[in-house]
Amino acid sequence: CMQIFIDTADLNEIREAYSWGIVDGVTTNPSLIKKAVDRRPGLSMRDYIRDICRSVEGPVSLEVKGVSTEQMVQEAEMLYERFNPVNGNVVVKVPVCTAMEDGQPLFEGIRAIKTLEGRGIPTNATLVMTAEQALMAAKAGATYASPFLGRVDDYLRTKLDIAFDKSDYYDPLCARHLEEQTWEEEASGAELYDRLMRSDISDNGIYSGVDLVDSIVTIYDAYGFDTQVIAASVRNARQAREVAEMGVDIATLPYHVIEDMLTHPKTLEGMQLFTRDVVPEYEELFE
Ligand code: G3P
Repeated sequence: CMQIFIDTADLNEIREAYSWGIVDGVTTNPSLIKKAVDRRPGLSMRDYIRDICRSVEGPVSLEVKGVSTEQMVQEAEMLYERFNPVNGNVVVKVPVCTAMEDGQPLFEGIRAIKTLEGRGIPTNATLVMTAEQALMAAKAGATYASPFLGRVDDYLRTKLDIAFDKSDYYDPLCARHLEEQTWEEEASGAELYDRLMRSDISDNGIYSGVDLVDSIVTIYDAYGFDTQVIAASVRNARQAREVAEMGVDIATLPYHVIEDMLTHPKTLEGMQLFTRDVVPEYEELFE
């Protein structure tokens, strides 16, 4: 069954969602830690991370902050040695590619993943934006690979100049229809093919974040990789459903997406009606 991780460093959210019995792990990153710290200035990071590790029976991803292989490996060892003894559930998140500017070395992250695999430290290859990166992460022995669906959608819709809110579902079929409308009726097949080939609605043949997960699941299945796919940067319930349809191993979800997956206006209305219709005869049964 698809596992659900909660994508947050907010201890209250983790504890609450975990108490519902449907959360199998936690993923954090420096931005999520920043949000948690902003809410609780002065917290002891060491104690806080220990509390997070204790709060779930399942993997907790903690991210390195360095950009060279050496730094990342050292940091990963520190995180693992310090926090894994708490509950035996630490996984170290390593960016699959750490180049921040043109000309910087690209291969530090992948080398760190390979090194950590050799040292028995479980890794979560993060910031995966292409299936090619996911393939490399699996070859390097990553325990998990995290494609960032929402950010791929952001990239595509920004390229297309589509206005969006972060949690909006991005439907690549709509983008295709828009594109078709711009075709001239009298264009020849060759011209249409040429236009399609040069069209800008995909990222090298990937049409959405969900499409990216599909591609990665297909590649991993084809070769029987042990690396598990974590659909990450999930922004809405529909994306979560679509990756579940693909049989993705894990989806890591913000608290509000988990909430959305449980709610529907007709469920709410139904609850109001059922509650209203409880007759005394039925009430008596529960006394
Ligand atoms: O798991 C990755 C996630 O935290 C990034 O999400 O919505 O900032 O792209 P987002």
